[in-house]
Amino acid sequence: MILFFGTCFLLFVICYLLFVICYLLFGTCNFYRIQRGLLPTMDRIYITDLSQHEDQIVTLKGWLYNKRSSGKLRFLILRDGTATVQCVVFKGDVDEATFAAADALTQESSFEVTGKVVPDERAPSGYEMQVKSIKTVQIAMDYPITPKEHGTAFLMDNRHLWLRSSRQTAILKVRHTIIKACRDFFDDRGFTLVDTPIFTPAACEGTTTLFETDYFGEKAYLSQSGQLYSEAAIGALGKTYCFGPTFRAEKSKTRRHLTEFWMVEPEVAFADLDDNMKLAEEFVSFVVQRALENNQEELKRLERDTKPLENVVPPFPKITYDEAAKILLEQGVDFEYGSDFGGGDETVLADQFDRPVMIHRWPVEIKAFYMKHAPENDNLAMGVDVLAPEGYGEIIGGGQREEDYETLVSRIKAHGLPMEAFDWYLDLRKYGAVPHSGFGMGIERCVAWICKLPHVRETIPFPRMMARLKP
Ligand code: 4AD
Ligand code: MG
Repeated sequence: MILFFGTCFLLFVICYLLFVICYLLFGTCNFYRIQRGLLPTMDRIYITDLSQHEDQIVTLKGWLYNKRSSGKLRFLILRDGTATVQCVVFKGDVDEATFAAADALTQESSFEVTGKVVPDERAPSGYEMQVKSIKTVQIAMDYPITPKEHGTAFLMDNRHLWLRSSRQTAILKVRHTIIKACRDFFDDRGFTLVDTPIFTPAACEGTTTLFETDYFGEKAYLSQSGQLYSEAAIGALGKTYCFGPTFRAEKSKTRRHLTEFWMVEPEVAFADLDDNMKLAEEFVSFVVQRALENNQEELKRLERDTKPLENVVPPFPKITYDEAAKILLEQGVDFEYGSDFGGGDETVLADQFDRPVMIHRWPVEIKAFYMKHAPENDNLAMGVDVLAPEGYGEIIGGGQREEDYETLVSRIKAHGLPMEAFDWYLDLRKYGAVPHSGFGMGIERCVAWICKLPHVRETIPFPRMMARLKP
Protein backbone atom coordinates (compact mmCIF):
# COMPACT_ATOMS: atom_id res chain seq x y z
CA MET A 1 0.00 0.00 0.00
CA ILE A 2 2.77 2.43 1.07
CA LEU A 3 4.79 1.38 -1.97
CA PHE A 4 1.78 2.11 -4.26
CA PHE A 5 1.15 5.60 -2.86
CA GLY A 6 4.87 6.31 -2.82
CA THR A 7 5.14 5.45 -6.55
CA CYS A 8 2.09 7.59 -7.35
CA PHE A 9 3.57 10.53 -5.46
CA LEU A 10 6.92 10.13 -7.21
CA LEU A 11 5.19 10.01 -10.65
CA PHE A 12 3.21 13.15 -9.77
CA VAL A 13 6.40 15.01 -8.76
CA ILE A 14 8.15 13.93 -12.00
CA CYS A 15 5.18 15.09 -14.13
CA TYR A 16 5.05 18.40 -12.30
CA LEU A 17 8.76 18.98 -12.78
CA LEU A 18 8.48 18.10 -16.48
CA PHE A 19 5.60 20.61 -16.82
CA VAL A 20 7.61 23.38 -15.11
CA ILE A 21 10.65 22.69 -17.32
CA CYS A 22 8.50 22.76 -20.50
CA TYR A 23 6.78 25.96 -19.41
CA LEU A 24 10.11 27.67 -18.69
CA LEU A 25 11.61 26.46 -21.92
CA PHE A 26 8.75 27.21 -24.31
CA GLY A 27 6.61 29.73 -22.45
CA THR A 28 9.33 32.32 -21.77
CA CYS A 29 10.86 31.54 -25.11
CA ASN A 30 7.56 32.61 -26.75
CA PHE A 31 7.46 35.79 -24.72
CA TYR A 32 11.00 36.50 -25.80
CA ARG A 33 10.16 35.90 -29.42
CA ILE A 34 6.96 37.94 -29.31
CA GLN A 35 8.80 40.87 -27.80
CA ARG A 36 11.23 40.79 -30.65
CA GLY A 37 8.53 40.48 -33.25
CA LEU A 38 9.67 36.96 -34.08
CA LEU A 39 6.16 35.59 -33.79
CA PRO A 40 4.53 37.81 -36.38
CA THR A 41 1.26 35.98 -36.79
CA MET A 42 -0.19 35.21 -33.42
CA ASP A 43 -3.87 34.39 -33.73
CA ARG A 44 -5.65 37.63 -34.61
CA ILE A 45 -8.83 38.13 -32.66
CA TYR A 46 -11.41 40.89 -32.29
CA ILE A 47 -11.95 42.89 -29.11
CA THR A 48 -15.46 41.52 -28.61
CA ASP A 49 -13.96 38.02 -28.36
CA LEU A 50 -11.43 38.87 -25.62
CA SER A 51 -13.39 36.96 -22.98
CA GLN A 52 -12.64 33.70 -24.80
CA HIS A 53 -8.90 34.36 -24.53
CA GLU A 54 -8.33 35.19 -20.86
CA ASP A 55 -4.64 34.86 -19.91
CA GLN A 56 -3.70 34.02 -23.51
CA ILE A 57 -1.35 35.90 -25.80
CA VAL A 58 -3.30 37.27 -28.75
CA THR A 59 -2.99 39.88 -31.48
CA LEU A 60 -5.46 42.72 -32.04
CA LYS A 61 -5.49 44.95 -35.12
CA GLY A 62 -7.02 48.39 -35.28
CA TRP A 63 -6.62 52.13 -34.81
CA LEU A 64 -5.48 54.30 -31.93
CA TYR A 65 -8.55 55.91 -30.46
CA ASN A 66 -6.79 57.65 -27.61
CA LYS A 67 -3.57 57.52 -25.59
CA ARG A 68 -2.45 58.43 -22.07
CA SER A 69 1.03 58.41 -20.57
CA SER A 70 2.10 58.09 -16.97
CA GLY A 71 5.77 57.55 -16.10
CA LYS A 72 6.81 54.16 -17.44
CA LEU A 73 3.30 53.35 -18.64
CA ARG A 74 1.54 54.05 -21.92
CA PHE A 75 -2.19 53.38 -22.14
CA LEU A 76 -3.27 52.84 -25.72
CA ILE A 77 -6.98 52.75 -26.43
CA LEU A 78 -7.37 50.55 -29.46
CA ARG A 79 -10.56 50.32 -31.49
CA ASP A 80 -11.07 47.60 -34.07
CA GLY A 81 -14.63 48.20 -35.21
CA THR A 82 -16.12 45.79 -32.70
CA ALA A 83 -15.25 47.69 -29.51
CA THR A 84 -12.39 49.47 -27.77
CA VAL A 85 -9.87 48.09 -25.30
CA GLN A 86 -7.06 49.54 -23.23
CA CYS A 87 -3.63 48.14 -24.08
CA VAL A 88 -1.08 48.81 -21.34
CA VAL A 89 2.56 49.16 -22.32
CA PHE A 90 4.89 48.88 -19.32
CA LYS A 91 8.48 49.90 -20.00
CA GLY A 92 9.81 47.05 -17.88
CA ASP A 93 7.81 44.47 -19.89
CA VAL A 94 8.83 45.41 -23.44
CA ASP A 95 11.98 46.17 -25.36
CA GLU A 96 12.94 49.72 -26.24
CA ALA A 97 11.65 49.55 -29.81
CA THR A 98 8.17 48.56 -28.64
CA PHE A 99 8.05 51.33 -26.09
CA ALA A 100 9.18 53.83 -28.72
CA ALA A 101 6.51 52.50 -31.11
CA ALA A 102 3.85 53.12 -28.45
CA ASP A 103 5.16 56.65 -27.99
CA ALA A 104 5.10 57.34 -31.71
CA LEU A 105 1.47 56.32 -32.28
CA THR A 106 -0.77 59.30 -33.04
CA GLN A 107 -4.57 59.44 -32.95
CA GLU A 108 -6.02 57.12 -35.62
CA SER A 109 -2.67 55.46 -36.41
CA SER A 110 -3.19 51.88 -37.50
CA PHE A 111 -1.28 49.15 -35.67
CA GLU A 112 -1.20 45.55 -34.55
CA VAL A 113 -0.60 44.78 -30.92
CA THR A 114 0.26 41.48 -29.28
CA GLY A 115 -0.09 40.84 -25.59
CA LYS A 116 -1.72 39.01 -22.76
CA VAL A 117 -5.46 39.30 -22.13
CA VAL A 118 -6.12 40.02 -18.46
CA PRO A 119 -9.40 40.63 -16.68
CA ASP A 120 -10.07 44.19 -15.53
CA GLU A 121 -13.41 44.87 -13.97
CA ARG A 122 -13.16 48.64 -14.61
CA ALA A 123 -12.86 48.11 -18.38
CA PRO A 124 -16.09 48.25 -20.45
CA SER A 125 -15.17 44.95 -22.10
CA GLY A 126 -14.05 43.48 -18.76
CA TYR A 127 -10.51 43.02 -20.11
CA GLU A 128 -7.34 44.86 -20.91
CA MET A 129 -4.19 43.82 -22.71
CA GLN A 130 -0.69 43.72 -21.25
CA VAL A 131 1.34 44.58 -24.32
CA LYS A 132 4.32 42.49 -25.43
CA SER A 133 4.88 43.87 -28.91
CA ILE A 134 3.56 46.46 -31.37
CA LYS A 135 3.65 46.47 -35.14
CA THR A 136 2.90 49.92 -36.58
CA VAL A 137 1.00 49.86 -39.87
CA GLN A 138 0.69 53.60 -40.51
CA ILE A 139 1.34 56.67 -38.43
CA ALA A 140 -1.68 58.93 -38.93
CA MET A 141 -1.15 62.56 -39.86
CA ASP A 142 -2.74 65.27 -37.70
CA TYR A 143 -6.28 63.97 -37.30
CA PRO A 144 -8.78 66.79 -37.84
CA ILE A 145 -11.42 65.49 -35.42
CA THR A 146 -10.21 65.86 -31.85
CA PRO A 147 -12.07 65.21 -28.59
CA LYS A 148 -13.00 68.92 -28.44
CA GLU A 149 -16.44 70.09 -29.69
CA HIS A 150 -16.75 70.63 -33.45
CA GLY A 151 -19.53 72.38 -35.37
CA THR A 152 -21.99 70.34 -37.44
CA ALA A 153 -20.81 71.75 -40.78
CA PHE A 154 -17.22 70.76 -40.00
CA LEU A 155 -18.26 67.27 -38.94
CA MET A 156 -20.41 66.85 -42.05
CA ASP A 157 -17.50 67.95 -44.26
CA ASN A 158 -15.45 65.27 -42.52
CA ARG A 159 -18.21 62.69 -42.50
CA HIS A 160 -15.79 60.07 -43.92
CA LEU A 161 -13.75 60.41 -40.71
CA TRP A 162 -16.55 61.37 -38.32
CA LEU A 163 -18.00 57.89 -38.92
CA ARG A 164 -15.23 56.52 -36.68
CA SER A 165 -16.51 58.22 -33.53
CA SER A 166 -18.12 56.05 -30.88
CA ARG A 167 -21.46 57.85 -31.33
CA GLN A 168 -21.50 57.34 -35.09
CA THR A 169 -20.47 53.70 -34.87
CA ALA A 170 -23.26 53.13 -32.34
CA ILE A 171 -25.78 54.63 -34.79
CA LEU A 172 -24.43 52.53 -37.66
CA LYS A 173 -24.81 49.39 -35.56
CA VAL A 174 -28.41 50.23 -34.70
CA ARG A 175 -29.08 50.98 -38.38
CA HIS A 176 -27.67 47.58 -39.26
CA THR A 177 -29.94 45.87 -36.73
CA ILE A 178 -32.98 47.73 -38.07
CA ILE A 179 -32.24 46.78 -41.68
CA LYS A 180 -31.68 43.15 -40.75
CA ALA A 181 -34.87 43.15 -38.66
CA CYS A 182 -36.84 44.48 -41.66
CA ARG A 183 -35.52 41.68 -43.83
CA ASP A 184 -36.04 39.00 -41.18
CA PHE A 185 -39.60 40.15 -40.51
CA PHE A 186 -40.68 39.79 -44.13
CA ASP A 187 -38.50 36.79 -44.94
CA ASP A 188 -39.92 34.87 -41.96
CA ARG A 189 -43.46 35.61 -43.11
CA GLY A 190 -43.05 34.23 -46.60
CA PHE A 191 -42.55 37.51 -48.46
CA THR A 192 -40.24 37.42 -51.48
CA LEU A 193 -37.74 40.22 -51.94
CA VAL A 194 -38.21 41.75 -55.39
CA ASP A 195 -35.76 44.50 -56.36
CA THR A 196 -37.34 47.40 -58.19
CA PRO A 197 -35.62 49.76 -60.63
CA ILE A 198 -34.04 53.09 -59.79
CA PHE A 199 -34.40 54.63 -63.28
CA THR A 200 -38.11 55.06 -63.87
CA PRO A 201 -40.23 56.68 -66.57
CA ALA A 202 -42.89 58.07 -64.22
CA ALA A 203 -43.60 59.63 -60.81
CA CYS A 204 -44.97 57.56 -57.97
CA GLU A 205 -45.24 60.17 -55.24
CA GLY A 206 -46.07 63.43 -57.03
CA THR A 207 -44.15 65.37 -59.60
CA THR A 208 -42.74 68.09 -57.35
CA THR A 209 -39.89 66.03 -55.89
CA LEU A 210 -38.66 64.22 -58.99
CA PHE A 211 -34.98 64.04 -59.87
CA GLU A 212 -34.86 64.12 -63.63
CA THR A 213 -32.06 62.68 -65.70
CA ASP A 214 -31.30 62.07 -69.34
CA TYR A 215 -31.69 58.44 -70.35
CA PHE A 216 -30.20 58.19 -73.85
CA GLY A 217 -32.30 61.08 -75.07
CA GLU A 218 -35.34 60.09 -73.07
CA LYS A 219 -36.45 61.63 -69.78
CA ALA A 220 -36.01 59.38 -66.78
CA TYR A 221 -36.52 59.95 -63.07
CA LEU A 222 -34.82 58.51 -60.03
CA SER A 223 -37.28 56.30 -58.20
CA GLN A 224 -39.31 57.90 -55.40
CA SER A 225 -40.67 54.52 -54.36
CA GLY A 226 -40.64 50.93 -55.64
CA GLN A 227 -44.35 50.58 -54.97
CA LEU A 228 -45.71 50.54 -58.53
CA TYR A 229 -43.31 47.73 -59.44
CA SER A 230 -44.13 45.85 -56.23
CA GLU A 231 -47.75 45.96 -57.32
CA ALA A 232 -46.67 44.12 -60.46
CA ALA A 233 -44.57 41.66 -58.45
CA ILE A 234 -47.44 40.56 -56.19
CA GLY A 235 -49.26 39.36 -59.32
CA ALA A 236 -46.45 36.83 -59.59
CA LEU A 237 -45.62 36.12 -55.95
CA GLY A 238 -48.56 37.14 -53.76
CA LYS A 239 -46.60 39.02 -51.13
CA THR A 240 -43.35 40.80 -51.81
CA TYR A 241 -41.16 43.56 -50.51
CA CYS A 242 -38.60 45.83 -52.06
CA PHE A 243 -35.80 47.50 -50.17
CA GLY A 244 -33.55 50.09 -51.67
CA PRO A 245 -32.55 53.69 -52.02
CA THR A 246 -35.23 56.14 -53.08
CA PHE A 247 -34.86 59.74 -54.19
CA ARG A 248 -36.80 62.92 -53.65
CA ALA A 249 -35.74 66.38 -54.72
CA GLU A 250 -36.75 67.79 -51.33
CA LYS A 251 -36.06 71.47 -51.38
CA SER A 252 -36.96 71.86 -47.74
CA LYS A 253 -34.23 71.82 -45.12
CA THR A 254 -35.88 69.95 -42.28
CA ARG A 255 -34.48 67.50 -39.77
CA ARG A 256 -36.60 64.73 -41.32
CA HIS A 257 -35.84 65.06 -45.02
CA LEU A 258 -33.05 63.59 -47.11
CA THR A 259 -32.87 63.63 -50.90
CA GLU A 260 -31.68 60.00 -50.90
CA PHE A 261 -33.11 57.63 -48.31
CA TRP A 262 -33.71 53.93 -47.92
CA MET A 263 -37.19 52.52 -47.88
CA VAL A 264 -38.56 49.05 -47.22
CA GLU A 265 -41.89 48.50 -48.93
CA PRO A 266 -44.08 45.42 -48.50
CA GLU A 267 -47.01 44.80 -50.85
CA VAL A 268 -49.70 42.15 -50.32
CA ALA A 269 -52.37 40.78 -52.69
CA PHE A 270 -55.86 40.28 -51.27
CA ALA A 271 -55.12 42.64 -48.37
CA ASP A 272 -57.28 45.61 -47.39
CA LEU A 273 -56.47 48.67 -45.31
CA ASP A 274 -57.12 46.86 -42.01
CA ASP A 275 -54.78 44.00 -42.98
CA ASN A 276 -52.21 46.60 -43.96
CA MET A 277 -52.42 48.41 -40.62
CA LYS A 278 -52.09 45.11 -38.74
CA LEU A 279 -48.99 44.22 -40.74
CA ALA A 280 -47.50 47.67 -40.14
CA GLU A 281 -47.97 47.59 -36.37
CA GLU A 282 -46.51 44.10 -36.07
CA PHE A 283 -43.62 45.16 -38.26
CA VAL A 284 -42.77 48.36 -36.37
CA SER A 285 -42.99 46.60 -33.05
CA PHE A 286 -40.76 43.75 -34.28
CA VAL A 287 -38.10 46.18 -35.48
CA VAL A 288 -38.09 48.19 -32.25
CA GLN A 289 -37.98 45.11 -30.03
CA ARG A 290 -35.10 43.70 -32.08
CA ALA A 291 -33.12 46.91 -31.56
CA LEU A 292 -33.82 46.69 -27.82
CA GLU A 293 -32.60 43.08 -27.79
CA ASN A 294 -29.46 43.63 -29.85
CA ASN A 295 -28.34 47.18 -29.15
CA GLN A 296 -28.60 47.89 -25.44
CA GLU A 297 -24.95 48.90 -25.32
CA GLU A 298 -25.22 51.25 -28.32
CA LEU A 299 -28.46 52.81 -27.09
CA LYS A 300 -26.78 53.44 -23.73
CA ARG A 301 -23.85 55.08 -25.51
CA LEU A 302 -26.34 57.32 -27.30
CA GLU A 303 -27.95 58.10 -23.92
CA ARG A 304 -31.26 56.84 -25.29
CA ASP A 305 -33.87 56.29 -22.57
CA THR A 306 -35.28 52.96 -23.75
CA LYS A 307 -38.43 53.01 -21.57
CA PRO A 308 -40.64 54.65 -24.25
CA LEU A 309 -39.47 52.05 -26.80
CA GLU A 310 -40.59 49.19 -24.56
CA ASN A 311 -44.21 50.36 -25.07
CA VAL A 312 -44.00 49.84 -28.81
CA VAL A 313 -46.18 46.72 -28.98
CA PRO A 314 -49.44 46.13 -30.86
CA PRO A 315 -52.16 47.17 -30.97
CA PHE A 316 -51.32 50.75 -31.93
CA PRO A 317 -54.03 53.39 -31.61
CA LYS A 318 -55.82 53.97 -34.93
CA ILE A 319 -57.61 57.22 -35.66
CA THR A 320 -59.02 58.78 -38.81
CA TYR A 321 -57.74 62.00 -40.35
CA ASP A 322 -60.97 63.65 -39.14
CA GLU A 323 -60.33 62.53 -35.57
CA ALA A 324 -56.73 63.73 -35.81
CA ALA A 325 -57.86 67.13 -37.13
CA LYS A 326 -60.29 67.38 -34.20
CA ILE A 327 -57.47 66.68 -31.72
CA LEU A 328 -55.37 69.43 -33.27
CA LEU A 329 -58.19 71.95 -33.05
CA GLU A 330 -58.89 70.93 -29.44
CA GLN A 331 -55.20 71.41 -28.64
CA GLY A 332 -55.41 74.95 -30.04
CA VAL A 333 -53.21 74.23 -33.06
CA ASP A 334 -53.63 76.64 -35.97
CA PHE A 335 -54.63 74.00 -38.49
CA GLU A 336 -56.77 74.11 -41.60
CA TYR A 337 -58.99 71.08 -42.20
CA GLY A 338 -58.04 69.36 -45.46
CA SER A 339 -54.35 70.22 -45.37
CA ASP A 340 -51.55 67.79 -44.70
CA PHE A 341 -50.07 67.64 -41.20
CA GLY A 342 -46.82 69.48 -40.72
CA GLY A 343 -44.00 68.32 -38.44
CA GLY A 344 -45.39 70.32 -35.50
CA ASP A 345 -48.91 68.93 -36.00
CA GLU A 346 -47.54 65.39 -36.09
CA THR A 347 -45.75 65.95 -32.79
CA VAL A 348 -48.93 67.22 -31.11
CA LEU A 349 -50.85 64.20 -32.40
CA ALA A 350 -48.18 61.66 -31.43
CA ASP A 351 -47.89 63.21 -27.96
CA GLN A 352 -51.46 62.07 -27.21
CA PHE A 353 -50.36 58.43 -27.23
CA ASP A 354 -47.73 56.25 -25.57
CA ARG A 355 -46.87 54.33 -28.74
CA PRO A 356 -46.98 55.00 -32.50
CA VAL A 357 -50.34 56.17 -33.77
CA MET A 358 -51.91 55.24 -37.12
CA ILE A 359 -53.88 57.84 -39.02
CA HIS A 360 -56.11 56.57 -41.80
CA ARG A 361 -58.74 57.82 -44.26
CA TRP A 362 -57.26 61.06 -45.61
CA PRO A 363 -58.70 63.77 -47.83
CA VAL A 364 -58.08 62.49 -51.36
CA GLU A 365 -56.56 65.83 -52.45
CA ILE A 366 -53.46 65.32 -50.32
CA LYS A 367 -52.81 61.69 -51.21
CA ALA A 368 -51.35 59.96 -54.26
CA PHE A 369 -53.30 59.05 -57.41
CA TYR A 370 -53.13 55.28 -56.80
CA MET A 371 -55.00 55.27 -53.47
CA LYS A 372 -58.38 53.59 -53.26
CA HIS A 373 -61.18 55.82 -52.07
CA ALA A 374 -63.17 54.80 -49.00
CA PRO A 375 -66.37 52.94 -49.94
CA GLU A 376 -68.30 55.00 -47.39
CA ASN A 377 -66.98 58.40 -48.57
CA ASP A 378 -65.48 59.14 -51.98
CA ASN A 379 -63.63 62.15 -50.56
CA LEU A 380 -61.45 59.97 -48.36
CA ALA A 381 -58.41 57.97 -49.49
CA MET A 382 -57.71 54.63 -47.83
CA GLY A 383 -54.19 55.68 -46.88
CA VAL A 384 -52.46 55.23 -43.58
CA ASP A 385 -49.55 57.08 -42.00
CA VAL A 386 -47.78 55.83 -38.89
CA LEU A 387 -46.48 58.59 -36.62
CA ALA A 388 -43.66 57.73 -34.25
CA PRO A 389 -43.73 59.10 -30.71
CA GLU A 390 -41.35 61.66 -29.20
CA GLY A 391 -41.63 64.15 -32.04
CA TYR A 392 -40.33 61.90 -34.85
CA GLY A 393 -43.44 62.16 -36.98
CA GLU A 394 -44.30 60.03 -40.00
CA ILE A 395 -42.20 56.91 -40.35
CA ILE A 396 -44.62 54.94 -42.56
CA GLY A 397 -46.89 55.91 -45.43
CA GLY A 398 -49.06 53.41 -47.26
CA GLY A 399 -52.57 52.25 -47.92
CA GLN A 400 -54.95 50.27 -50.07
CA ARG A 401 -54.50 50.70 -53.83
CA GLU A 402 -57.17 51.33 -56.44
CA GLU A 403 -57.61 48.08 -58.36
CA ASP A 404 -60.33 49.11 -60.83
CA TYR A 405 -59.11 49.91 -64.35
CA GLU A 406 -61.57 52.68 -65.28
CA THR A 407 -61.26 54.42 -61.93
CA LEU A 408 -57.48 54.39 -62.10
CA VAL A 409 -57.49 55.81 -65.62
CA SER A 410 -59.64 58.71 -64.43
CA ARG A 411 -57.34 59.30 -61.43
CA ILE A 412 -54.21 59.42 -63.60
CA LYS A 413 -55.96 61.97 -65.81
CA ALA A 414 -57.20 63.98 -62.80
CA HIS A 415 -53.66 64.17 -61.41
CA GLY A 416 -52.37 65.39 -64.77
CA LEU A 417 -49.99 62.43 -65.12
CA PRO A 418 -48.84 61.15 -68.54
CA MET A 419 -51.02 58.16 -69.40
CA GLU A 420 -48.40 56.54 -71.66
CA ALA A 421 -45.96 56.18 -68.75
CA PHE A 422 -48.53 54.14 -66.85
CA ASP A 423 -49.73 51.75 -69.55
CA TRP A 424 -47.91 48.81 -67.97
CA TYR A 425 -49.25 49.76 -64.51
CA LEU A 426 -52.79 49.86 -65.90
CA ASP A 427 -52.26 46.37 -67.35
CA LEU A 428 -52.18 45.09 -63.76
CA ARG A 429 -55.83 46.18 -63.51
CA LYS A 430 -56.70 44.26 -66.68
CA TYR A 431 -55.30 40.85 -65.87
CA GLY A 432 -56.47 39.46 -62.56
CA ALA A 433 -56.76 42.64 -60.50
CA VAL A 434 -57.27 42.03 -56.78
CA PRO A 435 -57.65 44.25 -53.73
CA HIS A 436 -54.13 44.95 -52.47
CA SER A 437 -52.26 47.09 -50.02
CA GLY A 438 -48.80 47.99 -48.88
CA PHE A 439 -46.67 50.59 -47.18
CA GLY A 440 -43.20 52.06 -47.09
CA MET A 441 -41.05 52.72 -44.04
CA GLY A 442 -38.18 55.18 -44.28
CA ILE A 443 -35.16 53.60 -42.61
CA GLU A 444 -33.55 56.90 -41.64
CA ARG A 445 -36.62 58.23 -39.86
CA CYS A 446 -36.89 54.94 -38.02
CA VAL A 447 -33.20 55.02 -37.01
CA ALA A 448 -33.53 58.66 -35.88
CA TRP A 449 -36.46 57.74 -33.67
CA ILE A 450 -35.01 54.56 -32.17
CA CYS A 451 -31.68 56.31 -31.44
CA LYS A 452 -33.47 59.57 -30.50
CA LEU A 453 -31.31 61.70 -32.79
CA PRO A 454 -32.02 65.36 -33.45
CA HIS A 455 -31.60 65.06 -37.24
CA VAL A 456 -31.75 62.34 -39.93
CA ARG A 457 -28.33 63.38 -41.26
CA GLU A 458 -26.64 61.13 -38.69
CA THR A 459 -28.71 58.07 -39.53
CA ILE A 460 -27.14 57.23 -42.89
CA PRO A 461 -23.42 56.83 -43.56
CA PHE A 462 -23.20 59.52 -46.24
CA PRO A 463 -26.30 61.73 -46.15
CA ARG A 464 -27.57 63.49 -49.25
CA MET A 465 -29.47 66.70 -48.64
CA MET A 466 -30.24 69.80 -50.65
CA ALA A 467 -26.91 71.38 -49.72
CA ARG A 468 -24.86 68.23 -49.24
CA LEU A 469 -23.38 66.06 -52.00
CA LYS A 470 -19.90 65.58 -50.52
CA PRO A 471 -18.22 63.47 -49.21
O1 4AD B 1 -45.30 58.44 -47.48
P1 4AD B 1 -44.37 58.10 -48.61
O2 4AD B 1 -44.14 59.14 -49.62
O3 4AD B 1 -44.98 56.79 -49.23
C1 4AD B 1 -44.52 56.17 -50.36
O4 4AD B 1 -43.53 56.43 -50.96
C2 4AD B 1 -45.35 54.96 -50.73
N1 4AD B 1 -45.21 54.74 -52.17
C3 4AD B 1 -44.89 53.77 -49.96
C4 4AD B 1 -45.69 52.54 -50.23
O5 4AD B 1 -46.87 52.54 -49.98
N2 4AD B 1 -45.05 51.48 -50.70
O6 4AD B 1 -42.97 57.65 -48.02
C5 4AD B 1 -42.88 56.56 -47.15
C6 4AD B 1 -41.90 56.84 -46.03
C7 4AD B 1 -42.28 58.01 -45.14
O7 4AD B 1 -43.22 57.66 -44.19
C8 4AD B 1 -40.94 58.35 -44.53
O8 4AD B 1 -40.61 57.46 -43.49
C9 4AD B 1 -40.00 58.09 -45.68
O9 4AD B 1 -40.65 57.22 -46.56
N3 4AD B 1 -39.67 59.35 -46.37
C10 4AD B 1 -38.52 60.02 -46.20
N4 4AD B 1 -37.46 59.81 -45.41
C11 4AD B 1 -36.43 60.68 -45.45
N5 4AD B 1 -36.39 61.74 -46.29
C12 4AD B 1 -37.42 61.98 -47.11
N6 4AD B 1 -37.37 63.00 -47.94
C13 4AD B 1 -38.56 61.12 -47.09
N7 4AD B 1 -39.71 61.06 -47.76
C14 4AD B 1 -40.36 59.98 -47.32
MG1 MG C 1 -46.12 60.13 -46.67
